[in-house]
Amino acid sequence: MKILVLPGDGIGPEITAEAVRVLKALDLSFEMEEALLGGCAVDATGDPYPEATRKLAREADAVLLGAVGGPQWDSHPREQRPERGLLGIRKDLGLFANLRPAVLYPELANASTLKPEVVAGLDILIVRELTGDIYFGQPRGIEVRNGERVGFNTMIYAESEIRRIARVAFEAARKRNRKVCSVDKMNVLECTQLWRDVVTETARDYPDVELSHMLVDNAAMQLVRNPKQFDVVVTGNMFGDILSDEASMLTGSIGMLPSASLDEKNKGLYEPCHGSAPDIAGKGVANPLATILSAAMMLRYTFNDEAAATRIENAVKKVLAQGFRTGDIFEPGMKKVGTREMGDAVLAAL
Ligand code: IPM
Ligand code: MG
Repeated sequence: MKILVLPGDGIGPEITAEAVRVLKALDLSFEMEEALLGGCAVDATGDPYPEATRKLAREADAVLLGAVGGPQWDSHPREQRPERGLLGIRKDLGLFANLRPAVLYPELANASTLKPEVVAGLDILIVRELTGDIYFGQPRGIEVRNGERVGFNTMIYAESEIRRIARVAFEAARKRNRKVCSVDKMNVLECTQLWRDVVTETARDYPDVELSHMLVDNAAMQLVRNPKQFDVVVTGNMFGDILSDEASMLTGSIGMLPSASLDEKNKGLYEPCHGSAPDIAGKGVANPLATILSAAMMLRYTFNDEAAATRIENAVKKVLAQGFRTGDIFEPGMKKVGTREMGDAVLAAL
């Protein structure tokens, strides 16, 4: 089993270090290597997804990523920005299926800005298409037309892309509560009319799963009004980006949300849903739990080791029950800890 670790920028190195300690503590036989992605790669090589990283990523079975980005690279030309590295590795490895589970741990019911009764028991899975849509569509650019600048992007999906992500959602629902809600904007956008049609066609192969459709603006509202109505939500790249950040706040903190990005053969890249948080980087206060939970997803989806995945998740539950909290999920009466101490607590609980 080969794991490539890409710590990235900002808090990335701190949080991946804790997830690596947890993985190593499990005594499974991994080969681990580390490489550069994002802003650190731009600084070292001029390329956010350098050739050396590409080679290692293609050879690895799974990739564990911290986070990329930071203000110091925002003025670089687009192809030298950290985000380009992240989009590059997703596309290069064909990681079209992004799973973002939003689960509320009972201990954190008060950490959410929503009323505890609205979020208690929340367990939803956002299935976001990750290698298509307006993120990658051509043509795109900024150019001068009729004497003024215009900016443009293309929202585009092929039916094969829609079908394969719909299948991932239906299969996932079969292991959960057998409900899929597909989110689109078919009242305005043709691209998402096709989305709705193809998801509906695909549903015929899954008669045991209940399919519903929702427009994205309504879905954004329903997620805060009554989030527990959802089981699996499937949507395109851009809507999924936005809705998954929204869903993270139902769980108390974006610092708790892991993610898996999978190809057709369950090779995967695992990363927290949150960003590189440059404002707290290097201070040792970031919450490592989303990255540790991403390592659990790696064991489950790529290495098929459900027992080890559950072991990590149970350890996280235990440290929350013990009252350990990083700043983002802190409440009075709890034990405030930093990144390293949270890692220590998870190791002890393991
Ligand atoms: C995410 C992030 C990325 C995205 C950025 C950093 C390019 O927001 O993984 O959700 O938009 O996909
Ligand atoms: Mg995002």
